Amino acid sequence: MMNKKLKAIASFIDKDDVVLDIGCDHAYLAIYLKKNELCHDVYASDINCNALNIARKNIQAENLELTTYLSDGFQNIDNPSINTAVIAGVGTSTVKDIMKYAPTHVKKFIISSNNNHEELRKYLYQNKYYIEKEEVIFEKGKYYIIMLVTRTPVKESRLSLKYGKSNSKEYFKYLLDKEKDILSKIPNYKFITRHLHKKNIKELKHFIERN
Ligand SMILES: C[S@@+](CC[C@H](N)C(=O)[O-])C[C@H]1O[C@@H](n2cnc3c(N)ncnc32)[C@H](O)[C@@H]1O
Repeated sequence: MMNKKLKAIASFIDKDDVVLDIGCDHAYLAIYLKKNELCHDVYASDINCNALNIARKNIQAENLELTTYLSDGFQNIDNPSINTAVIAGVGTSTVKDIMKYAPTHVKKFIISSNNNHEELRKYLYQNKYYIEKEEVIFEKGKYYIIMLVTRTPVKESRLSLKYGKSNSKEYFKYLLDKEKDILSKIPNYKFITRHLHKKNIKELKHFIERN
C-alpha cells in the first residue's frame, strides 16, 4: 500500500524520469508511478525473490507491463535508459554498497535511509553525489528523511551535513529533545561526553533559529 513516505518519494519524480525502484519490496511505488503515468517509464528490483514474487503478482493484478529484476542493487541491471533510482527503506550501509555501483547514466537518486543520515550525507558528498533537497515525513511515530540526490555540485556546510536540508522545525526539535534526553542521563563526572552533548544542543538551537 502507498504510505505517506512512498507518496513523498513519488512527488520527487518527474515526467522525464526512467525510474528503477531498488528494494521495491511489493512494488507499491512502481505500480503507483506506472498507473498514474508519473514518469516516462519505471522498473522494479529487489534482492529477495519472495518479495519480488509478490511484486510480480501485484503488477499482474493491476494488468500493468512493468519489468522486474532480481538484483543486489544495480548489479544485475543492464538498462542504459534508466536515469533515476529510488533506494528507500534500507540502512545507510546498504545504500552505500548500492551507490558504489551506480552507473553513470543514472543522474538522479531518491534516497531514504533508515538510519545514520549524517554518515550517509558525508559519504555522498565525498563521492561527488550532491543533496539538492530533503524532506522529512512523520509517519506512525517515526521520522523518515527523503533526499533528492544528483551529480550536480552543491556546496555543503558542516551543519548541513549533520542536520540536513529540510526545513522541518519539528524534526530539528525532535533531535534537540533527543540530545537533551541523552544529556540528562550522563553522569556529571563524565565531563567530555557532557560537553559534546551540550555543544550539540547549542548548535541545534542556533540551527532551529536560523531555519
Ligand atoms: C523495508 S523494504 C522497503 C520497501 C520500499 N522501498 C519502502 O521504502 O517502503 C526493504 C527492501 O529492500 C530490499 N533490499 C535490501 N537490500 C537490497 C539490495 N542490496 N538490493 C536490492 N534490494 C534490497 C529488501 O529485500 C526489501 O524488500
